[in-house]
Amino acid sequence: MKNVLITGGAGFIGSNFVRYLLENGDDQINVINLDLLTYAGNLANLNGLPDESKYIFIHGDIRDQNLISEIFNQYSIDTIVHFAAESHVDRSILGPSAFVETNIIGTFILLEEAKKYWGENWEEKKFHHVSTDEVFGSLEPDDSAFTENTPYDPRSPYSASKASSDHLVRAYFHTYGLPITISNCTNNYGPYQYPEKFIPVIITNCLQGNPIPIYGDGKQIRDWLYVVDHCEAIYKVLQNGQIGYTYNIGGNNQPTNIEIVNRICDIFDDRMPNSPYAPHKELIKFIKDRPGHDRRYAMDITRIQTELDWNPTENLDTGLQKTVDWYLANLDWIEEIRNDSVYTDWMEKNYTKRS
Ligand code: NAD
Ligand code: DAU
Repeated sequence: MKNVLITGGAGFIGSNFVRYLLENGDDQINVINLDLLTYAGNLANLNGLPDESKYIFIHGDIRDQNLISEIFNQYSIDTIVHFAAESHVDRSILGPSAFVETNIIGTFILLEEAKKYWGENWEEKKFHHVSTDEVFGSLEPDDSAFTENTPYDPRSPYSASKASSDHLVRAYFHTYGLPITISNCTNNYGPYQYPEKFIPVIITNCLQGNPIPIYGDGKQIRDWLYVVDHCEAIYKVLQNGQIGYTYNIGGNNQPTNIEIVNRICDIFDDRMPNSPYAPHKELIKFIKDRPGHDRRYAMDITRIQTELDWNPTENLDTGLQKTVDWYLANLDWIEEIRNDSVYTDWMEKNYTKRS
């Protein structure tokens, strides 16, 4: 692993991964970050990287076949870590076409260009595709957790587009022998998450005294993982994952959405006891549910634990405290997004129809 193309490296997980790789990766690694800078991409997520001499940013689209071909040739890419995607379920319900375009067509173009550039020489090459637990569908209360062999059953345009991309990646392995790995991960949280997703919505609304919106009855269950743990898991898969294999990644944390809100409100009460909005639980507001809302996700992570010796470092308490503290220390970062009409338009569109 020497010249690593990271797609979507200005987004939430991608930017954490760029930082992780430059801080913890092998010394010889160079990072080439390709990002379209959609509403979710933010160069401020990459401020203060540890070693800029090993880092190049390219503003561009994974669907641009000529650009991808040029990048492979110019930077002698041997490893791809593919994060770039449209990632928000609620946006996929209101506008699915971007999800088909980026998540399916974009992944197809990357696979094609990797196949062309690497030819038959797969040695020391790897195409790692970052995917989600949502491809497996929704669990009933007594169902056992998803394993790597659970049949796909996506329910939203987002998860269907990710499932399609996973199928393409596997097809390029079985048909052409492309050296791929896939990871399917649960809900991430932590620094630099765009405040349209649940945890940063709760945090920003606690800060501003706005209602904390809980969809439906709030008893949905997600498995939450601190983002740096996800980065470490991906790096382990890159180093030692078996070609053609899929690895489930998760935090072994399965609270309800209401429990998540309560824990964050408690942290705010502790950090800001004199806030005019304390006790912050009084901000909670139940609103109209997400259509087709998946009830429960849970991941069996035995394979990555046993084969790659990976385990999450943070539990929900330590991870949520770090996350709230990061947002409190980075109010300018939040403010810049909140002042952008792309953000305010989305919040209005998503929440007014639900209240
Ligand atoms: P994000 O929305 O924060 O970031 C996506 C990034 O991709 C942005 O920087 C955006 O500018 C870029 N991008 C979008 N379209 C592009 C295109 N056509 N060409 C180049 N760049 C483009 O997403 P995230 O939450 O960081 O998720 C990253 C990946 O991880 C996604 O593939 C997602 O499906 C997967 N994933 C996310 C989670 C989660 O909880 N956030 C969990 C499991 C898997
Ligand atoms: O499971 C992995 C997936 O997790 C990733 O693949 C997706 O990219 C990522 O966005 C996330 O999807 P979710 O739909 O689970 O995440 P979100 O943060 O949007 O919602 C988490 C839960 O909180 C879900 O049950 C919906 C609920 N929710 C969300 C928002 C934004 C609310 O109750 N209120 C809200 O305002």
